[in-house]
Amino acid sequence: MYTHLQLRDTERQPVSLGTLARMKEEGRKIASLTCYDASFAVLLDAADVDVVLVGDSLGMVIQGRDTTVPVTMDHMVYHCSIVARGLHRPLLMADLPFMSYPSKERALENSVRLMQDGGAQMIKLESGAGQCDIVEFLASHDIAVCAHLGLRPQSVHKTGGFRVQGRQEEAAARMIEDAKRLEAAGADIVLLECIPAELGQTISAALRVPVIGIGAGPHTDGQILVLYDILDITTGRKPRFVRNFMTGAADNLDAIKRYVEAVRSGAYPAPEHCF
Ligand code: KIV
Repeated sequence: MYTHLQLRDTERQPVSLGTLARMKEEGRKIASLTCYDASFAVLLDAADVDVVLVGDSLGMVIQGRDTTVPVTMDHMVYHCSIVARGLHRPLLMADLPFMSYPSKERALENSVRLMQDGGAQMIKLESGAGQCDIVEFLASHDIAVCAHLGLRPQSVHKTGGFRVQGRQEEAAARMIEDAKRLEAAGADIVLLECIPAELGQTISAALRVPVIGIGAGPHTDGQILVLYDILDITTGRKPRFVRNFMTGAADNLDAIKRYVEAVRSGAYPAPEHCF
Protein backbone atom coordinates (compact mmCIF):
# COMPACT_ATOMS: atom_id res chain seq x y z
CA MET A 1 0.00 0.00 0.00
CA TYR A 2 1.33 3.44 -0.83
CA THR A 3 1.32 5.21 2.54
CA HIS A 4 1.85 8.44 0.59
CA LEU A 5 -1.70 8.15 -0.68
CA GLN A 6 -3.15 7.92 2.83
CA LEU A 7 -1.46 11.23 3.60
CA ARG A 8 -2.99 13.12 0.69
CA ASP A 9 -3.38 16.71 1.75
CA THR A 10 -6.39 18.78 0.80
CA GLU A 11 -4.37 21.94 0.15
CA ARG A 12 -2.91 20.57 -3.08
CA GLN A 13 -5.92 20.99 -5.33
CA PRO A 14 -6.05 18.54 -8.25
CA VAL A 15 -5.15 20.07 -11.63
CA SER A 16 -8.16 20.60 -13.91
CA LEU A 17 -8.59 22.04 -17.39
CA GLY A 18 -9.42 25.32 -15.61
CA THR A 19 -6.04 25.22 -13.84
CA LEU A 20 -4.25 24.74 -17.18
CA ALA A 21 -6.24 27.53 -18.85
CA ARG A 22 -5.28 29.90 -15.99
CA MET A 23 -1.64 28.86 -16.28
CA LYS A 24 -1.67 29.77 -19.98
CA GLU A 25 -3.37 33.10 -19.25
CA GLU A 26 -0.84 33.96 -16.54
CA GLY A 27 2.16 32.75 -18.56
CA ARG A 28 2.97 29.99 -16.03
CA LYS A 29 4.52 26.98 -17.78
CA ILE A 30 2.87 23.56 -17.54
CA ALA A 31 5.23 20.73 -16.53
CA SER A 32 4.24 17.36 -17.89
CA LEU A 33 5.85 13.90 -18.03
CA THR A 34 4.93 10.41 -19.20
CA CYS A 35 4.44 7.66 -16.64
CA TYR A 36 3.68 3.94 -16.79
CA ASP A 37 3.40 2.62 -13.21
CA ALA A 38 2.27 3.51 -9.69
CA SER A 39 5.72 3.87 -8.08
CA PHE A 40 6.85 6.54 -10.53
CA ALA A 41 3.38 8.13 -10.43
CA VAL A 42 3.87 8.76 -6.69
CA LEU A 43 7.19 10.50 -7.44
CA LEU A 44 5.67 12.63 -10.21
CA ASP A 45 2.92 13.74 -7.85
CA ALA A 46 5.43 14.52 -5.10
CA ALA A 47 7.49 16.57 -7.58
CA ASP A 48 4.38 18.64 -8.45
CA VAL A 49 4.11 17.62 -12.11
CA ASP A 50 0.94 19.21 -13.55
CA VAL A 51 -0.06 16.72 -16.26
CA VAL A 52 0.86 13.01 -16.39
CA LEU A 53 0.55 11.17 -19.68
CA VAL A 54 0.24 7.42 -19.94
CA GLY A 55 1.68 7.48 -23.43
CA ASP A 56 1.65 4.70 -25.96
CA SER A 57 5.42 5.28 -25.88
CA LEU A 58 5.11 2.47 -23.33
CA GLY A 59 5.36 0.17 -26.34
CA MET A 60 8.96 1.30 -26.83
CA VAL A 61 9.93 2.26 -23.26
CA ILE A 62 8.35 -0.63 -21.33
CA GLN A 63 7.75 -3.35 -23.92
CA GLY A 64 10.97 -2.91 -25.93
CA ARG A 65 9.21 -2.51 -29.30
CA ASP A 66 10.58 -0.50 -32.24
CA THR A 67 7.42 1.60 -32.56
CA THR A 68 4.18 2.36 -30.70
CA VAL A 69 2.08 0.54 -33.30
CA PRO A 70 1.72 -2.82 -31.43
CA VAL A 71 0.27 -1.15 -28.30
CA THR A 72 -3.31 -2.25 -27.62
CA MET A 73 -6.23 -0.86 -25.64
CA ASP A 74 -5.70 -3.57 -23.00
CA HIS A 75 -2.09 -2.42 -22.50
CA MET A 76 -3.21 1.20 -22.20
CA VAL A 77 -6.01 0.48 -19.75
CA TYR A 78 -3.72 -1.63 -17.55
CA HIS A 79 -0.93 0.98 -17.36
CA CYS A 80 -3.37 3.84 -16.95
CA SER A 81 -5.14 2.13 -14.05
CA ILE A 82 -1.88 1.51 -12.16
CA VAL A 83 -0.63 5.06 -12.75
CA ALA A 84 -3.98 6.42 -11.54
CA ARG A 85 -3.44 4.66 -8.20
CA GLY A 86 -0.29 6.69 -7.56
CA LEU A 87 -1.67 10.14 -8.37
CA HIS A 88 -3.56 12.82 -6.50
CA ARG A 89 -2.78 16.28 -7.92
CA PRO A 90 -1.73 15.85 -11.58
CA LEU A 91 -4.27 15.67 -14.40
CA LEU A 92 -4.12 12.16 -15.88
CA MET A 93 -4.12 11.93 -19.66
CA ALA A 94 -3.95 8.67 -21.65
CA ASP A 95 -3.26 7.88 -25.29
CA LEU A 96 -5.74 6.22 -27.58
CA PRO A 97 -3.37 3.70 -29.22
CA PHE A 98 -2.97 2.85 -32.91
CA MET A 99 -6.26 1.99 -34.64
CA SER A 100 -8.37 2.46 -31.53
CA TYR A 101 -10.16 5.45 -33.11
CA PRO A 102 -10.94 4.50 -36.75
CA SER A 103 -14.47 5.87 -36.28
CA LYS A 104 -16.26 8.28 -33.92
CA GLU A 105 -18.05 5.39 -32.23
CA ARG A 106 -14.89 3.33 -31.61
CA ALA A 107 -13.10 6.45 -30.36
CA LEU A 108 -15.91 7.08 -27.88
CA GLU A 109 -16.05 3.46 -26.73
CA ASN A 110 -12.28 3.32 -26.18
CA SER A 111 -12.12 6.73 -24.49
CA VAL A 112 -14.79 5.53 -22.08
CA ARG A 113 -12.66 2.44 -21.33
CA LEU A 114 -9.62 4.60 -20.61
CA MET A 115 -11.72 6.77 -18.29
CA GLN A 116 -13.84 4.14 -16.53
CA ASP A 117 -11.38 1.24 -16.32
CA GLY A 118 -8.14 3.23 -16.51
CA GLY A 119 -9.03 6.32 -14.46
CA ALA A 120 -7.94 8.76 -17.21
CA GLN A 121 -9.32 12.30 -17.03
CA MET A 122 -8.37 13.24 -20.57
CA ILE A 123 -7.60 11.29 -23.71
CA LYS A 124 -5.03 12.12 -26.38
CA LEU A 125 -5.18 11.17 -30.04
CA GLU A 126 -2.73 11.69 -32.85
CA SER A 127 -4.54 14.07 -35.14
CA GLY A 128 -4.78 16.10 -38.27
CA ALA A 129 -7.73 17.80 -39.89
CA GLY A 130 -9.08 14.27 -40.58
CA GLN A 131 -9.71 13.75 -36.86
CA CYS A 132 -11.83 16.91 -36.37
CA ASP A 133 -15.10 14.98 -36.47
CA ILE A 134 -13.80 12.52 -33.86
CA VAL A 135 -12.63 15.36 -31.58
CA GLU A 136 -15.99 17.07 -32.01
CA PHE A 137 -17.87 13.86 -31.20
CA LEU A 138 -15.81 13.19 -28.06
CA ALA A 139 -16.14 16.82 -26.94
CA SER A 140 -19.91 16.63 -27.46
CA HIS A 141 -19.87 13.73 -24.95
CA ASP A 142 -17.94 15.88 -22.46
CA ILE A 143 -14.68 14.00 -22.89
CA ALA A 144 -11.58 16.15 -22.44
CA VAL A 145 -9.38 15.79 -25.51
CA CYS A 146 -5.76 16.51 -26.34
CA ALA A 147 -4.95 16.67 -30.07
CA HIS A 148 -1.39 15.55 -30.92
CA LEU A 149 0.17 17.21 -33.99
CA GLY A 150 3.62 17.28 -35.58
CA LEU A 151 5.54 14.02 -35.41
CA ARG A 152 2.90 11.30 -34.99
CA PRO A 153 4.63 8.05 -34.04
CA GLN A 154 1.57 5.90 -34.85
CA SER A 155 1.96 6.95 -38.52
CA VAL A 156 5.66 6.18 -38.70
CA HIS A 157 5.31 3.36 -41.24
CA LYS A 158 3.40 5.69 -43.55
CA THR A 159 5.43 8.87 -43.03
CA GLY A 160 8.75 7.05 -43.13
CA GLY A 161 10.51 7.70 -39.83
CA PHE A 162 10.87 9.77 -36.68
CA ARG A 163 11.63 13.13 -38.29
CA VAL A 164 11.13 16.81 -37.53
CA GLN A 165 7.80 17.93 -39.01
CA GLY A 166 6.65 21.29 -40.39
CA ARG A 167 9.99 22.49 -41.71
CA GLN A 168 8.57 23.39 -45.13
CA GLU A 169 6.37 26.47 -45.41
CA GLU A 170 3.42 24.53 -46.78
CA ALA A 171 3.58 21.86 -44.05
CA ALA A 172 3.90 24.54 -41.38
CA ALA A 173 0.87 26.42 -42.74
CA ARG A 174 -1.13 23.18 -42.79
CA MET A 175 -0.20 22.43 -39.17
CA ILE A 176 -1.28 25.91 -38.04
CA GLU A 177 -4.58 25.45 -39.85
CA ASP A 178 -5.06 21.93 -38.40
CA ALA A 179 -4.37 23.19 -34.88
CA LYS A 180 -7.00 25.93 -35.26
CA ARG A 181 -9.55 23.49 -36.67
CA LEU A 182 -8.94 20.98 -33.89
CA GLU A 183 -9.36 23.73 -31.30
CA ALA A 184 -12.60 24.80 -32.98
CA ALA A 185 -13.73 21.15 -32.95
CA GLY A 186 -13.34 21.07 -29.17
CA ALA A 187 -9.75 20.04 -28.37
CA ASP A 188 -8.90 21.22 -24.85
CA ILE A 189 -5.13 20.91 -25.27
CA VAL A 190 -2.89 20.66 -28.31
CA LEU A 191 0.37 18.71 -28.08
CA LEU A 192 3.12 19.45 -30.62
CA GLU A 193 5.91 16.95 -31.19
CA CYS A 194 9.21 17.57 -32.92
CA ILE A 195 8.67 20.78 -34.89
CA PRO A 196 10.71 23.97 -35.38
CA ALA A 197 10.64 26.28 -32.34
CA GLU A 198 9.25 29.14 -34.44
CA LEU A 199 6.27 27.04 -35.52
CA GLY A 200 5.69 26.03 -31.88
CA GLN A 201 5.61 29.70 -30.98
CA THR A 202 3.18 30.60 -33.80
CA ILE A 203 0.73 27.82 -32.93
CA SER A 204 0.87 28.56 -29.17
CA ALA A 205 0.11 32.23 -29.82
CA ALA A 206 -2.69 31.42 -32.26
CA LEU A 207 -4.59 29.10 -29.90
CA ARG A 208 -6.72 29.91 -26.88
CA VAL A 209 -6.19 26.44 -25.39
CA PRO A 210 -2.88 25.41 -23.77
CA VAL A 211 -0.22 24.00 -26.07
CA ILE A 212 2.27 21.49 -24.67
CA GLY A 213 5.42 20.74 -26.62
CA ILE A 214 7.99 17.98 -26.92
CA GLY A 215 10.83 19.16 -29.09
CA ALA A 216 8.68 22.14 -30.09
CA GLY A 217 10.80 24.92 -28.60
CA PRO A 218 10.59 27.12 -25.51
CA HIS A 219 7.50 29.17 -26.43
CA THR A 220 4.79 26.53 -25.97
CA ASP A 221 2.64 26.84 -22.83
CA GLY A 222 4.21 23.73 -21.35
CA GLN A 223 6.67 20.92 -21.92
CA ILE A 224 6.42 17.15 -21.85
CA LEU A 225 9.17 14.53 -21.97
CA VAL A 226 9.36 10.77 -21.65
CA LEU A 227 10.13 9.99 -17.98
CA TYR A 228 12.73 7.32 -18.74
CA ASP A 229 14.62 9.80 -20.95
CA ILE A 230 15.00 12.45 -18.24
CA LEU A 231 16.03 9.76 -15.72
CA ASP A 232 18.64 8.46 -18.18
CA ILE A 233 17.13 4.97 -18.13
CA THR A 234 16.66 4.93 -21.91
CA THR A 235 19.71 3.50 -23.64
CA GLY A 236 21.01 4.33 -27.10
CA ARG A 237 20.70 7.51 -29.12
CA LYS A 238 18.25 10.02 -27.70
CA PRO A 239 16.38 12.77 -29.53
CA ARG A 240 17.96 16.23 -29.53
CA PHE A 241 15.28 17.65 -27.21
CA VAL A 242 16.05 15.22 -24.35
CA ARG A 243 17.95 16.45 -21.31
CA ASN A 244 19.32 14.09 -18.68
CA PHE A 245 18.05 15.48 -15.35
CA MET A 246 19.89 12.80 -13.34
CA THR A 247 23.09 14.78 -13.82
CA GLY A 248 23.77 16.30 -10.40
CA ALA A 249 20.52 14.92 -8.91
CA ALA A 250 20.50 13.04 -5.59
CA ASP A 251 17.87 10.54 -6.72
CA ASN A 252 14.90 10.05 -9.08
CA LEU A 253 12.59 12.38 -7.13
CA ASP A 254 15.23 15.11 -7.12
CA ALA A 255 15.73 14.73 -10.90
CA ILE A 256 11.97 15.03 -11.52
CA LYS A 257 11.81 18.11 -9.27
CA ARG A 258 14.70 19.64 -11.23
CA TYR A 259 12.81 19.00 -14.47
CA VAL A 260 9.65 20.70 -13.11
CA GLU A 261 11.70 23.66 -11.91
CA ALA A 262 13.55 23.96 -15.24
CA VAL A 263 10.26 23.96 -17.17
CA ARG A 264 8.68 26.52 -14.82
CA SER A 265 11.69 28.84 -14.92
CA GLY A 266 12.13 28.49 -18.69
CA ALA A 267 15.63 27.00 -18.27
CA TYR A 268 14.41 23.94 -20.23
CA PRO A 269 14.34 23.72 -23.20
CA ALA A 270 17.59 25.54 -24.03
CA PRO A 271 18.58 26.35 -27.63
CA GLU A 272 20.45 23.03 -27.96
CA HIS A 273 17.16 21.16 -27.37
CA CYS A 274 15.32 22.97 -30.17
CA PHE A 275 14.93 22.57 -33.92
O1 KIV B 1 3.32 8.42 -26.13
C1 KIV B 1 3.93 9.37 -25.66
O2 KIV B 1 4.72 9.24 -24.71
C2 KIV B 1 3.72 10.69 -26.23
C3 KIV B 1 4.71 11.74 -25.86
C4 KIV B 1 5.92 11.57 -26.67
C5 KIV B 1 4.15 13.08 -25.91
O3 KIV B 1 2.84 10.88 -27.00
